[in-house]
Amino acid sequence: MNIIKANSIDELNKKAATLIGGQILEKPDSVLGFATGSSPLGTYDQLIRMYSSGALDFSQVTTFNLDEYIGLGKGHPQSYHHFMEEHLFSRVNIVPENTNIPSGVAADERAECERYEEAIAAAGGVDLQLLGLGRNGHIGFNEPDRVFAKQTSVVKLTESTIEANTRFFESREEVPQEAISMGIGTIMRARKILLIAYGEDKKEAVEKLLYGEITPEMPASILQLHPNVTVIYAD
Ligand code: GLP
Repeated sequence: MNIIKANSIDELNKKAATLIGGQILEKPDSVLGFATGSSPLGTYDQLIRMYSSGALDFSQVTTFNLDEYIGLGKGHPQSYHHFMEEHLFSRVNIVPENTNIPSGVAADERAECERYEEAIAAAGGVDLQLLGLGRNGHIGFNEPDRVFAKQTSVVKLTESTIEANTRFFESREEVPQEAISMGIGTIMRARKILLIAYGEDKKEAVEKLLYGEITPEMPASILQLHPNVTVIYAD
């Protein structure tokens, strides 16, 4: 594991964006795995800056997002489709057809999970997967469990995640209780992984992810077994 302690959130964002930018420069048709939540926002801002200054070209990049809430369509302001459009896709020259996010409104959710997994494989797999970290150690929406999920699946969100995500909705009742998420297996198949985390409420999860026991009760702990992971964190 490459472990980097950043001195500030600004430094964390710049380091993370440099790694992603470097991946695109090295391989212009990279397949990138993207994440949502507040953690990657500053990193996306830096990527947009790099694009605006002419340093980066997203025209050949393909992306796969980690997850989407079940029940929220593309137009819903809290859908991850909307999030990515607003915070990254509409602000760089990525080709919309090359961006992939599971559908939260598919008639057959299980078929959607299979389709998504096959689409990742057909694209040649993910070169670099960006991850945030849930307060309870979840990655994507892989919540603490008795086993590690092998592939993209329908997941039930825990009370603590619903609680944490209530801040984005008008009320707790509006927060979806289920999501479609890449599995831990899907994430581990990425050739490189970059996890970013900062803040007091992530401290314990970061500590366990880096040095704790590898257990599905702490989903991010499995990253200790991945051959090419970078963790950038700040207080
Ligand atoms: C959500 C997302 C995760 C994200 C986590 C942390 O549950 N599905 O991908 O990493 O929240 O979010 P934040 O970065 O806002 O703390």
